[in-house]
Amino acid sequence: MANLCNVDGSIVPEAEARIPVLDRGFLFGDSVYEVVRTYAGEPFGWPEHWRRLQRSAAALRLRLDLDEATVARRIAATLAAAGPGDHYVRIVVTRGSGEAPNIDLAYATGAPCWLVMVRPLTPMSGKAARLAIIGRLRNDRRALDPATKSGNYLNSVLGLAEAKDLGATDCVMLNQSGHVTEASTSNLFALIDGAWCTPPLDSGILAGITRALLLDFLSRHGEPVTERNITAVELRRAQEIFLSSTLRDLGPVTHLDGRALHGGGPGPRTSALLERFTEHMQQRQRDHYAPAWRRLTATP
Ligand SMILES: Cc1ncc(COP(=O)(O)O)c(C=O)c1O
Repeated sequence: MANLCNVDGSIVPEAEARIPVLDRGFLFGDSVYEVVRTYAGEPFGWPEHWRRLQRSAAALRLRLDLDEATVARRIAATLAAAGPGDHYVRIVVTRGSGEAPNIDLAYATGAPCWLVMVRPLTPMSGKAARLAIIGRLRNDRRALDPATKSGNYLNSVLGLAEAKDLGATDCVMLNQSGHVTEASTSNLFALIDGAWCTPPLDSGILAGITRALLLDFLSRHGEPVTERNITAVELRRAQEIFLSSTLRDLGPVTHLDGRALHGGGPGPRTSALLERFTEHMQQRQRDHYAPAWRRLTATP
């Protein structure tokens, strides 16, 4: 299995992939991206990832010049070249190269650059986390909306670094109102007073695909989740906390601000949920995503 990159349709080893120095993604973080994982060799949740990529691009006024089937076929070709096994797939679309290193969109005369990175998947499902509530705030929605999955991830980069300085493995960022938002690359769920809750979209978070699947799954299985504002004080008295993301699925939180939750292991409700949710996702892949992916990538 190899690390491969598909740059504007050409597949090369990752170490040989090149981006021009005038690419606006490189210069300004002027890009959008998605991270998708495969199950049994095929992308999981592709329709949701494609929709979110479209929303992110629209938020940045970035016109996507390829259609869904073309992008899907590029991903499929890169996965086929990488060989068997499950893969991490990162799709990046930059605004392309400008005429000069100038932020003005008037200089952005080039076509978007489409990159697909494929790497063997490092299993992270159920990976535990130790969280610290950090001083750095999540970007304000009115400044740079966290719902837009852009290439500018400095808020998360610096948030994670701050958490690691505190001896944690990930951060909890608050918003300007003092409410919990999310971790550096995951959404957050907490069991407070016996009920699951998660910060609402308008607290300033990424609309996680795993988060949405979990909201649906939990409500169908008699464990409804309330989307509501959560204060740091409330989070500190949560019985259980977990993170959700494409790579992690559902990651139990074992410590908050250096304090062990339930003896420093995963919470019992979280562990039971992880098992049921993993089965649910595998079934959803078999019944829904894999057939849709095959239809989409079938040669016309
Ligand atoms: C900031 C942030 N929040 C949440 C998530 C989880 O989203 P998803 O479940 O779609 O992977 C991610 C994933 O990259 C993220 O970067």
